[in-house]
Parts: sequence; C-alpha cells; structure tokens
Amino acid sequence: MAKKTLRDIDLKGKRVLLRSELNVPIKEGEVGDDTRIRAELPTIQYILDQGAALIIMTHLGRPKGQPVAEMSVKPVAEYLAAKLDRPVTYIPYGSEEEISTAAAAVAAGQVALLENIRFWPQEEKNDPAFSRFLASLGDVYINDAFGTAHRAHCSTEGVGHFLPAIAGFLMEKEIAFLQEAVDAPKRPLAVVMGGSKVSDKIALIENLAGKADYLLFGGAMANTLLAAKGCDMGASKVESDKLDIAREMMKRVGGFDEDGSLDQGGQSQNRCRIYYPEDLVVADGFRADAATKIVACDQVPAGWMALDIGPATVKAWSAVFAQAATIIWNGPLGVYEMPAFAEGSNGVAQAIAASSAMTIVGGGDAVAAVMQAGCGEQMSHLSTGGGASLELLEGKKLPGIEILQDK
Ligand code: 3PG
Repeated sequence: MAKKTLRDIDLKGKRVLLRSELNVPIKEGEVGDDTRIRAELPTIQYILDQGAALIIMTHLGRPKGQPVAEMSVKPVAEYLAAKLDRPVTYIPYGSEEEISTAAAAVAAGQVALLENIRFWPQEEKNDPAFSRFLASLGDVYINDAFGTAHRAHCSTEGVGHFLPAIAGFLMEKEIAFLQEAVDAPKRPLAVVMGGSKVSDKIALIENLAGKADYLLFGGAMANTLLAAKGCDMGASKVESDKLDIAREMMKRVGGFDEDGSLDQGGQSQNRCRIYYPEDLVVADGFRADAATKIVACDQVPAGWMALDIGPATVKAWSAVFAQAATIIWNGPLGVYEMPAFAEGSNGVAQAIAASSAMTIVGGGDAVAAVMQAGCGEQMSHLSTGGGASLELLEGKKLPGIEILQDK
C-alpha cells in the first residue's frame, strides 16, 4: 500500500523531526560526492516552505557508538547551509538535556542538523528510551533516509513508534521506482547484475529470476557462474568455495542446462532468459597498465584474469536492452575505475541510456559507473541506496519503510 507523504499532512507551525540520508564521503573536512545531499534538498525545502521548525538527523560512516571527530556532520551542516542559502544550526554531541535545549531553540522556518546519530550507542541498538527521547524533539517524524531503510535503528524505525511516521519525497520516489519495477514492471523487464560475490546475491537472483524476463550477469560474479558451468577462469576472481551453491542456485532458477553447458539466452522454467558474458577483457595482472586481450568466456588463458566484459557481450546485451521496457542495473561489470577495464560498463551504460525503457540504477558502484560514462542524466532513476535497494529488490521488507503510515 502507498505510504503517507509530506503532501498528506499539514506541517504549518509543526516541529518536524526528519531522518535524512546525508551519509556522504568527507575528506579533510570537505564534502566529496554530494549526490545524497542534493537528493534531499526538495524534502528539506518543502518542509521549511510550509513554515515548520526542522531538526534533521543523519548518520555518517560507522563510528560504532562513540564520537569520532572525522565522522562529525559539521561539514555537512555547512554544505547544506550553502545549498539552502540559509543558516543551518549544528547541534553538537551532548546530553539529552543539551540536545533538547538546542532543538527547542529552532524556530518556525529554521533548520538544525543534529550531530552524527551513530555517535550515541543507543542508536544502532534501536533503544526504545532513546527513540522516545528523539521523538520528544518533534511533533511529526519524516523518514526520507531510503539508503538506511534496511536498518532498524532508533532514527530510522524506533522513533516511528512514538510519533506519526511519514515518508519524505525521496523515500516516496525510491519506493515508487524500485518496488514497482519488481512488483508491477512494464515488460519486458531486464536486470543487469554485477559485483564481486554471487554468495551475497543468492536471494536477489532467486527473487529476480522469478520476476524478470532477462537476467544478465557480469562482473566477478559472472566469473563464479562461468566457473560453476565448468569454464576454466584462469587467475580470475572466483568464489571457488561457492561453486556448488552457485550451481544449485542456477539450477533452481533455470540458468543452467541439464548437462550444465553454456546456454546464452537460455530460458528458465519461469521464462526468464539468462545471459552470461560472451567475451571478456582479460589481463595479465590486476594493474591499470597490465597487458590485455579479448577472449571468449571459456578461453581465459592460464594466469590471466577477467577484469571486464568484452565488446561482443555489450553488443548482445544492447539488443536485449533495445527490447526492454524496464531495465534495472545493480553492481559493477568490471574494474571500471581503471580505463582499460571500463569499456564494458561504459558501453552498457550508453546502451541502457539509449533505450526507451524505464531505467533504474542502484548501488554506489553502478551509479558511479553510469556517472563516469556521462549517462546519469539519461537514466529514469539513480537510487541513493546501496544495501537498501538490494534488499528491496530481494523482496525483503525494510524496517524504515514498514514503520511509515499507509495512506
Ligand atoms: C549506505 O551508505 O549504504 C547507508 O548509509 C547505510 O550505511 P550502513 O551500511 O553503515 O548502515
């Protein structure tokens, strides 16, 4: 059921407690990639425009329940102030009394950012007393932190037991794109999957094989699947201790023939067609300046390693994308950070961008690869959640979404 959003409630004169996902990279006190901050601006601006007093909570990194200077949100408060073109009060780490006093001083139309919520050890324990305290700072709780919606912490879930819990605009958008793409996609639905480990993505693959029309595997996880099919992958990264698990799973989802042979585009029981890389860019070492060549997926020379999908794969996959009505991409297809191994990801990004499908990219690496290829603007949706988008695509219930009121 659709969740209540900001538009469904009257915020005028209210004290709003907003959980945002402002977990951005900070280097030497400076904000790096600001995608998550920019994605949060519409919600913040709307709340302020309604004449509410706004107190924002976020985490930054993993400080493990204690103050860590490099993980302070102070630079985020300054960055936010510049983006909003108005002062943002920074509320430092302190006692509950100090926080209450600072929060109470925030007037209608003003905004404050509370220090990294994970500095308080109660946060990740989802401690009810701390949730109750946080709830005392506001009249209404807005959760816009999709990227942390898979965590049941005080600021992402606990507070919702003590205040009306409403979705922010970013949360609404992420749910609309990701959930609808798997639950009620415009077909055909093609899902491109990369990343290093098959073993981390068993639930994801099984769920998507039951829903997608095409599954396309790249990245190191494809090495493991090809090895499970009997290909000698040379010195490629392969989860050799997980081959049986991979084989069993692919049999269950119908990705392997009876005889286990390679079957490009083979159709599973539930009509999902499964694609592996046809060719690979292999290198004689894990180095940007390594010697490289392009080989068929079952011809990796001894001592060489697959670090990207090859041009024949990009061509074959592009034909799939041209037919798709919805495309989801999760996980990198090669070592895109090194130019010699970025062509596969660039080519796939361009082919997806050129398709007329609804296109959704999830996970930090796939989003970074799309941005590097200069195709960010052409995608329908770039998800701000890595782990959260994966869990949603796996079909799991996310605590930070479950706690929100239905419309
Ligand atoms: C993320 O960056 O994926 C989110 O902020 C969640 O962070 P976490 O994995 O530390 O909970």
